[in-house]
Amino acid sequence: MSSQDLAKEARRRRTFAIISHPDAGKTTLTEKLLLYANAIHLAGEVKSRKNSRSTISDWMQMEQERGISISSSVLQFDYLGSALNLLDTPGHADFSEDTYRTLAAVDSAVMLLDHAKGVESRTLKLFEVCRMRELPVISFMNKLDREGLEPLALMDEVSETLNLQVTPINWPIGMGREFMGVVRLSDKQVFLFEESKRGSQVIDFKTMPLEEAIADIPPRLYQTLEEELELLEMAGDPYDHQKFLNGELSPVFWGSAKTNFGIQPLLEFLAEQTAPPAPRQTIDDNWIEPDEDKFSGFIFKIQANMNPKHRDRIAFMRVVSGQFERGIDTTIGRNGEKLRLSKPHSFMAQERAIVEEAWPGDIVGLYDPGKLRIGDTVSAGKPLQYSGIPRFAPEHFVRVHLEDPLKRKQLDKGLEQLSLEGVIQLFFDPEIGRQAPYLGAVGQLQFEVLKQRLQNEYGTRVSFQSLPYQVCRWVEGPPEAVTWLEARRDYKLVHDRNEQPVLLADSVWPLQYALNNTEGLVLHEIEPL
Ligand code: G4P
Repeated sequence: MSSQDLAKEARRRRTFAIISHPDAGKTTLTEKLLLYANAIHLAGEVKSRKNSRSTISDWMQMEQERGISISSSVLQFDYLGSALNLLDTPGHADFSEDTYRTLAAVDSAVMLLDHAKGVESRTLKLFEVCRMRELPVISFMNKLDREGLEPLALMDEVSETLNLQVTPINWPIGMGREFMGVVRLSDKQVFLFEESKRGSQVIDFKTMPLEEAIADIPPRLYQTLEEELELLEMAGDPYDHQKFLNGELSPVFWGSAKTNFGIQPLLEFLAEQTAPPAPRQTIDDNWIEPDEDKFSGFIFKIQANMNPKHRDRIAFMRVVSGQFERGIDTTIGRNGEKLRLSKPHSFMAQERAIVEEAWPGDIVGLYDPGKLRIGDTVSAGKPLQYSGIPRFAPEHFVRVHLEDPLKRKQLDKGLEQLSLEGVIQLFFDPEIGRQAPYLGAVGQLQFEVLKQRLQNEYGTRVSFQSLPYQVCRWVEGPPEAVTWLEARRDYKLVHDRNEQPVLLADSVWPLQYALNNTEGLVLHEIEPL
């Protein structure tokens, strides 16, 4: 494999995730992207796969019982010569930590909004994570087949709420029952859709210059369209590709995932314009380019027991540089241990296939003999350590109670391993030591997953005692500030697994008080790396 081929393969990768509030249409859009890329032939297949997952794998009963998607899977498909990797993220807010970690492994994100609702709470939070990573974000305004906010008003809302420049790439013609197509703004080419087969198949469309569309668009809609286009031309900032790649501008698309209107322009943009794999920073401040000849990658997710019959642990790795080959010998940067990556897998939803090779931007599932942790770097050349995957402040805390005191060892082992997998976070009260940790989670359901897995995998039954804390911040500052915090009763100061001080409080109000009364105190919502 020449270095030219490596660079070519890397350049054609597009690794992205869809972020949205539940019910905005993420599953539907995912399915339609697959339909348009010819990866499935009839929409409805993804959903039916979702429903019949028990036959493929019943590795997590909870997912079924609650009808929520807990784990993230990876969908790989080709379109217009690009290789797209779509990282699916859990729909349920209680597993947002998983989504945050997934965002560390992508090069861009599609922000999906219901155009009747605008920016909803979860979209806002996920967008903040994208901004922290300076990820390019593409906006897709969904459900245009229903009535919603006026397009210009929606653009203003998004821009103001997210403090982000938004620039439409196309513009909707009508909405609700009258939604009939879009205009591509760069050349005023009109695309009029023809509804067919209730969205289960690729739809036909007619295309023509705007002046000629006057014959097909009802006069009232045409007039509104002309006015809106005029306003956009006067007020709107032009699309700037570099600003998009820097995460400063979001290109906006309009459509309806359900009826397939407007899917193709989004998919074309994803294939042709969105960000290819980026270089990645190591902890000693080197940047590793995707086309460097030595393979390297990092682990962003570990999932145990995907197949309960085999009791396996799969580590999801994002390839950062070089060519990955099955059986490659690597070093784990954290501790210098050697690891041969011998049974790599790719995933299409829950189905697996052996991977012989992979390229920067690709996601590979590795069998983990218990050696890997989230954030680990594996590399074939000299040992490397990429900057870690951040941990987010938990919002729920419990103490664990062991039902059978003789199982203490199993409990300790389970908590240790499951926290390394990111199921929960452990905190320690310096006065009590590591015996009775506080467990923190971003969502309550994480505790239920923990409980079930402790029972199934470690044979320990536990119950939880809720703690009153809802706010958690990593503390940075001079020793006097830390002493000040320790002396007060309205905060609890604990340590995380790396002995860093962490403050727990029952609301955000005491935080401001602490900041006002101490010098040099910094409180981080995301673990400082
Ligand atoms: P999610 O993964 O983001 O949670 O959303 P999902 O795709 O499951 O969609 C949530 C609901 O919104 C579904 O309706 C889906 O059909 C609907 N939906 C998605 N895109 C559009 C769209 O463009 N227009 C309209 N009108 N609806 C859309 P449901 O009633 O929950 O399920 P279903 O019976 O329709 O499958």
